[in-house]
Amino acid sequence: MSNALKTGCFALLCCCSLLSLRVPAQKKTIAQKVDSVLHLMTLEEKIGQMNQYNGDWAATGPITSDGDKQDQIRQGQVGSMLNVTGVEHTRQLQEMAMHSRLKIPLLFGQDIIHGYRTTFPIPLAEAASWDIAAIGSSARIAAKEAAAAGVHWTFAPMVDIARDPRWGRVMEGAGEDPYLGSLIAKARVKGFQGKKLGDTDAVMACAKHFAAYGAAIGGRDYNSVDMSLRTLWEIYLPPFKAAADAGAATFMNSFNDLNGIPATGNRYLQREILRGKWKFKGFTVSDWGSVGEMIAHGYVKDKYEAARAAVTAGCDMDMESRSYIKTLRTLVKEGKVPLTLIDDAVRRILTKKFEMGLFDDPFRFCNEERAAAEWNDPDNLQIARRMAEKSIVLLKNENGLLPLSKSTRTIALIGPFIRSVRANLGFWSYEYPDDSSRIVSPWAGIQKKVGGNTTLLYAKGCEILDTSRAGFAEAVAVASRADVVVLNVGEAPDMSGEAKSRSTIRLPGVQEELIKAIQATGKPVVVMINAGRPLIFNWTADHVPAILYTWWLGTTAGDAIADVLFGDYNPSARLPMSFPRTEGQIPIYYNHFSTGRPAKNDQDVNYVSAYTDLPNDPEFPFGFGLSYTSFSYSDISLSTAAFKPGQSLTATVTVTNSGTTDGQETVQLYVRDLVGSVVRPVKELKGFEQIFLKAGESQKVSFTLHAEDLRFYNDKLEYIFEPGEFRLYIGGNSKDVKEKGFILNRE
Ligand code: NOJ
Repeated sequence: MSNALKTGCFALLCCCSLLSLRVPAQKKTIAQKVDSVLHLMTLEEKIGQMNQYNGDWAATGPITSDGDKQDQIRQGQVGSMLNVTGVEHTRQLQEMAMHSRLKIPLLFGQDIIHGYRTTFPIPLAEAASWDIAAIGSSARIAAKEAAAAGVHWTFAPMVDIARDPRWGRVMEGAGEDPYLGSLIAKARVKGFQGKKLGDTDAVMACAKHFAAYGAAIGGRDYNSVDMSLRTLWEIYLPPFKAAADAGAATFMNSFNDLNGIPATGNRYLQREILRGKWKFKGFTVSDWGSVGEMIAHGYVKDKYEAARAAVTAGCDMDMESRSYIKTLRTLVKEGKVPLTLIDDAVRRILTKKFEMGLFDDPFRFCNEERAAAEWNDPDNLQIARRMAEKSIVLLKNENGLLPLSKSTRTIALIGPFIRSVRANLGFWSYEYPDDSSRIVSPWAGIQKKVGGNTTLLYAKGCEILDTSRAGFAEAVAVASRADVVVLNVGEAPDMSGEAKSRSTIRLPGVQEELIKAIQATGKPVVVMINAGRPLIFNWTADHVPAILYTWWLGTTAGDAIADVLFGDYNPSARLPMSFPRTEGQIPIYYNHFSTGRPAKNDQDVNYVSAYTDLPNDPEFPFGFGLSYTSFSYSDISLSTAAFKPGQSLTATVTVTNSGTTDGQETVQLYVRDLVGSVVRPVKELKGFEQIFLKAGESQKVSFTLHAEDLRFYNDKLEYIFEPGEFRLYIGGNSKDVKEKGFILNRE
């Protein structure tokens, strides 16, 4: 049967099925259409909509294998599939769904975390750009490429705040700050969902992991979370709220328990907060197997209890645990789960299927020509390259070693990553047969950039995880013949990501020793570090003159790296997470509370809140990043020294590009509430502005604050501001700031 015919039959069936209802089908609202379909459904078919299976293509958890998935699709017992990719494959399965009694289309979901066909920088790297519009465009391209390949739904954005770089999943989020994280959450949701759901270039977003997953104890994945409700509300929930407000179609709950209640079975999170306070109208999906995993948590005895707990708590769809499909029927029949809960979940799921236009045409995302055009659109690569440039953080640049001259005679390119093709894609990226012709390695990017008079020398030096130093001699010899060395070290793509917690986050293997050996040649050395998390590399930070943090930058990594190395792009990125000096400082974050015994400085260690063996400060603070130029800040001037609710205060600084290169600065505003009814953080990011200044140019930058910007959660969880004294800080990172006091008066 042709596709057009199939679609026609489907539409006919929908109309016939709905004839019994008085309003003509085409005039009905989505809510009425959903009710019409719901009315026709058996209990088994309803439960089927709440059931999601993996497509056997890729798995990030144990795959359940009892029963035949394809038969179940034909019987209307599956509502959604994940990890089914490509037009052909999605079409095949959708055709099976069209053989079910009611022909309700499947939803195809996948982890499109940082690009699909074109891999963009990992989310943490993109967050380092602080460029909200660019981050939105990245999500837009990912959505277009994925939607063209049959995907309806991405399990992104991951909006978990993360203060612990041992946790491998920090790579998927926006870092440690709720203000920056909220802006990015909104941009990503809007980017994925485009102008509106139902457009064929829009995919449904999924804010995850609800909630507090980023605070897994010890940075160990899937671990428990124990935190005060104030911290939950103030630090961990804001990006979720921003995603909900931005219209995220779905939410995913999470593996962790929160204060003893697994998030998947957590009524407070899903019913009270998400649906109640936030009035979320989309649906929630469990994480992979997390409904069933409540058994291992020791929260429920079996799948019967697990399904009951999850559905009662507000989890609408069961990803791969088969708890719902196996037990919900009995639970309803026995009166343990009211049918109204099932109807509510199914209504939410069907609503999204209608909004996506799948009831009009279940195959509308399966279009080979569109897929081919979208997949080969050279603009996508250009946008990825711009994003990658913006994501590279310049951590150190002594004596202006960077940028390099394009006519440098001899450059030694050393390290396990310099020639590698796929290593820059990072975790959560996809493999395609033509990868090697599309992905630009650092070597290839640099080769394109330099002129014919430059000789590039190569030595690997060591493998990523090597314990052997056998390659050092060759690398040292190569370095000795060069004018400058570019050394690319770091983590392999499978070292940060899901289930990739590390207790030590140093450069793996003998890579830092390789750096020492190369540095000992006396040649100028530029180290580039690939990673999915903040790593610890103190010796390098202390001794090597130039360091670029290159994360995992995606398909166009090599081009972007070359742009930065040779000054065609002046680095502008700023760290979205604090970089610790040792693992012992973790968790580490700039917006910590003040203690009763704060240390005055690094030497102040006696009976104050300090380590006796190292400073409290991180190696590189939140918001930090250098440029090939320098910026100076005037003192802050305030429009008023005191204001009251209903009024505002404007703080102004003049920022000057005091160097000789044009460049971009990210001007950051922080605030501290000096005395509160609960202890307040020493600094909180409240705003930032990115400005581009020509060499020697100055610009005034102003921030306006209202009483609402000073709100926090008090001990009754009321979101309030309190009159009193505040300090305001403006600068180029969270540490180097100018400051000024102001007062918020009573009304
Ligand atoms: C488990 C991960 O925690 C989640 O983020 C992901 O979306 C699902 N697996 C599906 O792959």
